[in-house]
Amino acid sequence: MRILGLETTCDETAAAVVENGEDGRGRILANEIRSQIADHAAYGGVVPEIAARAHVEVLDGLIARALAESGLELADMDGIAAAAGPGLIGGVIVGLTAGKALALVAGKPLIAVNHLEAHALTARLTDGIGFPYLLLLASGGHTQLVCVRGVGDYVRLGTTVDDAIGEAFDKTAKMLGLPYPGGPEVEKEALRGDPERFDLPRPMLRREVPNFSLSGLKTAVRLEAERIAPLSATDVADLCASFQAAVVDVIVDRSRVALRAFQAEAGRPTALVVAGGVAANQAIRGALTRFATEAGLRLVTPPPALCTDNGAMIAWAGLERLRLGLTDDLTTPARARWPLEPAEEAPEVEPTGV
Ligand code: KG4
Ligand code: ZN
Repeated sequence: MRILGLETTCDETAAAVVENGEDGRGRILANEIRSQIADHAAYGGVVPEIAARAHVEVLDGLIARALAESGLELADMDGIAAAAGPGLIGGVIVGLTAGKALALVAGKPLIAVNHLEAHALTARLTDGIGFPYLLLLASGGHTQLVCVRGVGDYVRLGTTVDDAIGEAFDKTAKMLGLPYPGGPEVEKEALRGDPERFDLPRPMLRREVPNFSLSGLKTAVRLEAERIAPLSATDVADLCASFQAAVVDVIVDRSRVALRAFQAEAGRPTALVVAGGVAANQAIRGALTRFATEAGLRLVTPPPALCTDNGAMIAWAGLERLRLGLTDDLTTPARARWPLEPAEEAPEVEPTGV
């Protein structure tokens, strides 16, 4: 089975071709990506209108390159997968509409992929792990601890009540005058900083529900920065190191609590999986490796290029759904919001039909 996957929900435009290998993993035949970081850098964050236009400009070319790289044609695909949300709606429409057009023209099934589900299933593409597993999904827009029971079968154990972890990294970086996106910059600074110089809070530590709260930590960094301003290079490095150390402590504590909730829900997980852009952080990976070893769990962290947004994860999620017969028709909407758990989607107020 071979799938073309398209990703346009945020600031990366990507197209990939993935097939299922014999060992239960996926085989990536092509994985083309164009990052828009340079287009947004001057604004210190993603500008939705610029993102949508940039997706329009490069998506066709990336699809052509991905097909050429794979040595295959559209007619060789078994399905076309496109991320249909959640994300910046203008960009989502671009990728989903392109996917619909290709599916229509080539007479192939369309699979409208939830971007979060694609992050959640990436560990099966890379490592072929079985269900159920405990997932920490940490990106710029999302922070969730999830019990992954099967394709389309997710129980959210915890989430953030305010900022996402990646967002906290990005905002901290911006506050300290570091470029966007802030995660890698903060990590780089932290390497030469003193993590103990500032005594920052560890919000939610030991709370029984594995939720996160990061805005207080961000504020604490700001107050410290204001207190000692003007900041020297050493101050910035020490603030980054202290911030990252606090985040690491919170992540390990929340994962420990989530593991207990998981075991009550679904027994023993096959692995602890860390996905999303933040999983590229070596300090976080290191701490979770120690935690997993302690807990006797296998830790699976897909390589950084497959942890940040990419087309291969969309193609793989499409493949997983297609082989279960889960396809979508051309009326499928692009969705700015699209929680992993169907129960969360129930409208709070019944539609009146007006
Ligand atoms: O999954 P992703 O590529 O995009 C979505 O948000 O969906 O994640 C991007 C986020 C950004 O907030 C970025 O700052 C963060 O992941 N990130 C990192 C690192 N690399 C990327 N955060 C901390 N340390 C890193 N090395
Ligand atoms: Zn993402």
